[in-house]
Amino acid sequence: MDHFELRNGELYAEDVPLARIAAEVGTPVYVYSRATLERHARVFREGLSGLKRVHLAFAVKSNPNLAVLRVLQREGYGADVVSGGELERALRSGMPAGDVVFSGVGKTARELKRGLDAGVGQFNIESEEEGRELAAIAAANGQVAHCALRVNPDIDAGTHEKISTGKKDNKFGVAIDEAPGIYERLSALPGLDMRGVAVHIGSQLSDLAPLEKAFTRLGQLIADLRAAGLTVTHADLGGGLGVPYKAGEVMPSPAEYGAMVAKVTADWDVTLMFEPGRVIAGNAGVLLTTVIRVKRNGNRDPFVIVDAAMNDLARPALYGSWHDFDAVRPKDQRMTANIVGPICETGDTFAMGRDIEALEAGELAVFRTAGAYGATMASSYNSRGFVPEVLVDGDRYAIVADRIAPEAITDAERVPDWLA
Ligand code: LLP
Repeated sequence: MDHFELRNGELYAEDVPLARIAAEVGTPVYVYSRATLERHARVFREGLSGLKRVHLAFAVKSNPNLAVLRVLQREGYGADVVSGGELERALRSGMPAGDVVFSGVGKTARELKRGLDAGVGQFNIESEEEGRELAAIAAANGQVAHCALRVNPDIDAGTHEKISTGKKDNKFGVAIDEAPGIYERLSALPGLDMRGVAVHIGSQLSDLAPLEKAFTRLGQLIADLRAAGLTVTHADLGGGLGVPYKAGEVMPSPAEYGAMVAKVTADWDVTLMFEPGRVIAGNAGVLLTTVIRVKRNGNRDPFVIVDAAMNDLARPALYGSWHDFDAVRPKDQRMTANIVGPICETGDTFAMGRDIEALEAGELAVFRTAGAYGATMASSYNSRGFVPEVLVDGDRYAIVADRIAPEAITDAERVPDWLA
């Protein structure tokens, strides 16, 4: 459930008409709902209420906006970060370093050092090489890094191949059959406190079965590690729960997910860690856009050209993803249209042959479920700027990220003297 609803024939974000935000901030603009973020954060937590020791780390990559992180920090969430930049954002939002999990397959020595100095709660190590490098840095500075070893359980998560991470050909984690040896060798290193294992098999998962299979393999690994005399007190089960992108689509609920986890992990006796992203932020945001014009080409479906483009919302171009598209002031009329942005490539297409509410030039519409992997994946392609972000809270809103004009980006470039 989200808080983007029609009231008197007009789409609102909580108690604020989207048309008001468009008039005052301009379009395109990402609009987030605080009530929706909080609701999702609570529903996810409640879904896990059958578990004893739980740590929640919001996947910052899904929506790194400082205000969004702050909302989740107030809900008691820590962060799952995958870069130095994300780490700084989590800390600036007020999340304690100890609540931060540092994931990522290519953490640099500099990032590892910064994580140690900041005191991050856990490093998820993705290779023996990384573990050795972290151990050396920690030991040299008299520090101890608390670590989990990320394993690759070789499971097809049944999602889009570009967001699948747990197959043996993927770059993530260490092969599960090599994990015991690596865990043992890393445990012997000064500077490392090997305390657990981690797994994440993919994103936008619509089926719990692959997750259950992956967790079952992880449980076996934990038993094997303990049998070998090694210590395991933490297990990080990653993120990945899917959300509905189409009205009426049904996804596994956090309660169903929690029940499955409770069943599989019943005798693990560990602190369970979770890294949800999309399930918290996805439906808490929309991308508000204006129709620039409707272009009719003979008797083909018209092109509805909007002022948002693939650089602002990359998911359709990258993964062929569907985002529901709704008029802000729907009339009692529909049309079949191709929804496209202004960018000069055919990939800048949001939908083809889509049945939508009839729209004309100048009218407003939203791409729904744009709160996760939306603004964060924007680029400045075609010398477009970066879209601003707005957070709504009841009947008020704030601009939580300024629009970055193309000129501001150009200002960071220079022509060297020798080309003068
Ligand atoms: N933990 C790890 C280690 C991850 O790699 C990810 C996402 C998450 C947690 C959060 O997953 P979530 O709960 O959001 O599914 N840009 C793509 C999604 C990429 C996901 C990458 N990893 C998209 O727009 O669909």
